[in-house]
Amino acid sequence: MTIAAWPASQQAWERTKASLGGGVSTGLRASMKPHPIFFQGGQGPRLTDLDGNTYLDYVLGWGPVILGHGHPGLTEAVSRQLPLGATYGSGHLLEAEVAEKVLARIPGTERVLWSNTGSEATQVALRLARAATGRHRFVKFTGHYHGWSDTMLVGYRPGPDGSLGLGSLGQNPAAMEDLALVTWGDLEATADLLKAPDSDIAAVFCEPVLCNSGVLAPPLGFLQGLRDLCDATGTILVFDEVITGFRIGSGGAVTRYGVTPDLVVLAKAIAGGYPLAAVAGRAEIIDRTTKGVVHAGTYNGNPVVLAAGSATLDALAEPDVYEDFERRGTALADGMRAALARHGVPSTVHQVGPVVQCIAGVENADSFDAFLAADQEFYDRLGVQMLRRGVFTLPGGRWYLSTAHSDADIAQTVAVFDESLAATLSQGPGPVAKRA
Ligand SMILES: Cc1ncc(COP(=O)(O)O)c(C=O)c1O
Repeated sequence: MTIAAWPASQQAWERTKASLGGGVSTGLRASMKPHPIFFQGGQGPRLTDLDGNTYLDYVLGWGPVILGHGHPGLTEAVSRQLPLGATYGSGHLLEAEVAEKVLARIPGTERVLWSNTGSEATQVALRLARAATGRHRFVKFTGHYHGWSDTMLVGYRPGPDGSLGLGSLGQNPAAMEDLALVTWGDLEATADLLKAPDSDIAAVFCEPVLCNSGVLAPPLGFLQGLRDLCDATGTILVFDEVITGFRIGSGGAVTRYGVTPDLVVLAKAIAGGYPLAAVAGRAEIIDRTTKGVVHAGTYNGNPVVLAAGSATLDALAEPDVYEDFERRGTALADGMRAALARHGVPSTVHQVGPVVQCIAGVENADSFDAFLAADQEFYDRLGVQMLRRGVFTLPGGRWYLSTAHSDADIAQTVAVFDESLAATLSQGPGPVAKRA
């Protein structure tokens, strides 16, 4: 049986538009098709909407819900903390307890700073890099996302003027002067920038797997190449592991690829859906926060989110978590590839651990430009067909798995994907093949 309409969600959407900016709490959610779905709750890998429909959830709160919804250990840890208060404005032992768990998992890290969101954490990482080097500018790769601040929202997607520069109306144009944009994988261009006299580059920022724009794994040797260049030029290497951290390996990209940056930015999976973020790295850099570098935040390190962080990291330390992610991620990606081939839809499917990306309309899509060329109109229609059949996915083609998704859930999802492709193709043309 397929879902014909979502009357309760539609009604809720009309209501929220009258009181919330754009009817949503973060702008992108307004773009979800056919309109945002409103939920009453979730359990494990499933979410139930206001109309009573239940979905297998591959949005997972746009990434953080890595243990699934209402995980018992996580819920219990947060519930134990709640009657003890929300925040103390001074020290408590959970701050160190969770920091120790982070340091034990990520090689080369000696200190942690707690923050609330990835956007805040990337800001303090840049400030620390500038303070440590006495330099000002930074290298950023096109298509990489490091939060929505004026400084960072540059070169992510074509902006309001259609160019790959500033990302938002109202953004300070001076943001363009702070950074040098480089194509992901171009070591030579990075070297030229870093080695140029007076280049003034404090840091190289990257998503070590380009999850936000196609789930593109780093080209072979590229991360080590960045490490060597940063060593040679005294530049701070920052891995933005807001998505990859504790997800694509026990120590994120650092353990998966065996390259140690100077600073690692963490958020999303670290606390299973609660608003916790962090910067981890070398003591010599991070200890500067008591030597003139300001890192502030009323809610930093509050015990509620740290209780969530502690329980989440414990659950992710259970045996076989990462093996299961790999197996289920592979099963989903292989199932999608087979269905797309069966229906003759030109496409690329990428997978790194429990993160999968479908790029419809482009074969061998191994660059940011190829990702941008995807047939989003077709994928949007496919997404609605999946939603009608009880599978809730992100716009843009990225899928997240949680520890709660079983092999049977994946098999069911692959079957729904196949049926949804057939339904989408029966209603309109499929993508015209583009080659990267
Ligand atoms: C790689 C990366 N960095 C930073 C951020 C910003 O994190 P937040 O949304 O918590 O501010 C995101 C968010 O999706 C992200 O994917």
